[in-house]
Amino acid sequence: MKTKKLIFSMTILMLTCVIEASAQTVWLDELNLSNATQGNGVPMKNKSLDGKPMRIAGKTFSRGFGTHAESMLTILLNGKAKTFTANVGLDDEVNGHNPEVEFVINGDGKTLWKSGLMHQGDTARPCKVSVENIKKLELMVTEGTDGNYYDHADWADAKFETTGVTSLETYNPISNVPYILTPAAPATPRINGARVFGVRPGSPFLFTIAATGDRPMTFSAKNMPKGLKLDSHTGIITGKLNKKGTYVIRLCAKNNKGTAEKDLRVICGDHIALTPPMGWNSWNCFAGEVSADKVKRAADAMIKSGLINHGWTYINIDDFWQNHRDSKDKNLQGEFRDKDGKIVVNARFVDMKPLADYVHNLGLKIGLYSSPGPWTCGGCAGSFGHEKQDAESYAKWGFDYLKYDWCSYGEVSDGDSQKDPNKVPSFSMKGGNELETAMKPYRLMGEYLRQQPRDIVYSLCQYGMSDVWKWGGSLNGNCWRTTHDITDTWKSVENIALAQDKAAPYAKPGNWNDPDMLVIGTVGWGNPHQSKLKPDEQYLHVSLWSLFASPLLIGCDMEKLDAFTLNLLTNDEVIAINQDPLGKEAACVQTIGKMRVYVKQLEDGSCAVGFCNFGIDEANLSYKDFSKLGISGVQNVRDLWRQKNITKVNTATGALSIKVPAHGVLLYKFTKAK
Ligand code: GAL
Repeated sequence: MKTKKLIFSMTILMLTCVIEASAQTVWLDELNLSNATQGNGVPMKNKSLDGKPMRIAGKTFSRGFGTHAESMLTILLNGKAKTFTANVGLDDEVNGHNPEVEFVINGDGKTLWKSGLMHQGDTARPCKVSVENIKKLELMVTEGTDGNYYDHADWADAKFETTGVTSLETYNPISNVPYILTPAAPATPRINGARVFGVRPGSPFLFTIAATGDRPMTFSAKNMPKGLKLDSHTGIITGKLNKKGTYVIRLCAKNNKGTAEKDLRVICGDHIALTPPMGWNSWNCFAGEVSADKVKRAADAMIKSGLINHGWTYINIDDFWQNHRDSKDKNLQGEFRDKDGKIVVNARFVDMKPLADYVHNLGLKIGLYSSPGPWTCGGCAGSFGHEKQDAESYAKWGFDYLKYDWCSYGEVSDGDSQKDPNKVPSFSMKGGNELETAMKPYRLMGEYLRQQPRDIVYSLCQYGMSDVWKWGGSLNGNCWRTTHDITDTWKSVENIALAQDKAAPYAKPGNWNDPDMLVIGTVGWGNPHQSKLKPDEQYLHVSLWSLFASPLLIGCDMEKLDAFTLNLLTNDEVIAINQDPLGKEAACVQTIGKMRVYVKQLEDGSCAVGFCNFGIDEANLSYKDFSKLGISGVQNVRDLWRQKNITKVNTATGALSIKVPAHGVLLYKFTKAK
């Protein structure tokens, strides 16, 4: 009996030794970190984002993963790890800024640990998480509540204790292979773009007929109201309407292959931007490096690439056309205002009027950027105290669009005129969540813009504070950002997309929710690179922004448009969803696992439906919930990206086979069969 007990105890002891001997440490930095996606820069091994030794609140760490929010790294543990430990925090290299992030660990779809919101200067927070039996582990850094500015985040000392394996795999299952769906436009003429156009009485009129097809092409129009004239070679309509009213103009485009006709409804009244503005903005590619030359080249590329033939119109200059408060760049140094208080344009732009004329002569429109505070977000001169003069300057130069960015306004919103504007930070959200404070500067500029003798689309940029979608329109606003800045990562696009539902019911013609600019093509905020979004993610991004009826502003370098990006920007049936005159924004009507179904009602009684897969596995199902889409009877189903009728479905008895790639989309239009 005794011997038996002894043998048993020895066996247990040996087994324990074997198990302990096989337990193994695998450091996070030994894994393939290139599968991580992050808001800025590249994943860093044992270094901070800027390539320095990792330091959190004065303490240096020799091992770990340096990243930038929104950051996501998926690791396939397959039950082979027991614990994960790390010390997390914001890196000291962003001292002086005040970023905020949260570190989050998910295992098999459940949250296992959260750091809570962390700020620059916080001591590293230790985390120890049991990951036993977990198959897929996600290490995330979210942007906190303040956008992803300066979010240099460190997973320091990060390591796994495994069940004995000596390595672990990271995972990013989304395909990298681009594929083109948009069919080439036919050689015969086709008139694309908006079907309705708003203008105020007395304002200069500029509308370019967007038409694809072989050139030369000649344009003509029937029922052209008095005061407007059409250039038959360029298709540009100019002039002025003095009387309020609705004018239906029959547009015609002709080439040696055929003729196309289409009605344009011109509504001369109080409202403009009756369909979401479409164009380009300098920020996502050039950021602080923008210049008049780059703007002209972007405008030229809008013509050369043929994008103008699909309705792309605005060429918008973002921050950095003014002088800067402390830049080392000589071109940005100089007085902020002249002796009369008028805003001074920096040496990269010199004179705005000829630039605006240049853009208008191409049949395009031009936009500008400022802040209601003393400083823009980038630290250039803002409009505070000079709102009237600035609105007058923009109109005199010939601008058609103003993006007005909150930035430093919160710091002066208490009306403290004694406050030294030089000490006001360029970016702060102070005051933005108090409704009256939030509205005040936008009301002021909105009134001055309305007094100008031209139509200026007014874009409010304050990241959605105080539910701007509820009141932006009442201050003459035409569109308003609903979230913080976008970056070219899946997490950023996903978070923004998922945050739109609450604002959706407020969208209508002339009043658009703006989930920020497109992050496709060569973007990079002065550090150019191909968008880090995978092809399917880009299809989803453009589809959703079309369903959201959001302003479509291309954020990439227009001289580097590749075939895939052009395919995303030239699908007239997708664009038509965005530009539909009814002006409804899609809402999510159903969630099936990780798939969200969005429906946008269209003017002709049909509807656009986006089957959007936010999951990392292909969605493959037989769809029957047609009542959720608000449709009945027999419906024709058209695939808008492929521009193909795919089937007819009886919504009472039939089913639709749906196969959506991971992070991808099917964008369909349902039209009742006659
Ligand atoms: C941000 C804004 C960006 C860009 C930038 C310029 O606040 O959201 O879109 O305009 O300022 O500094």
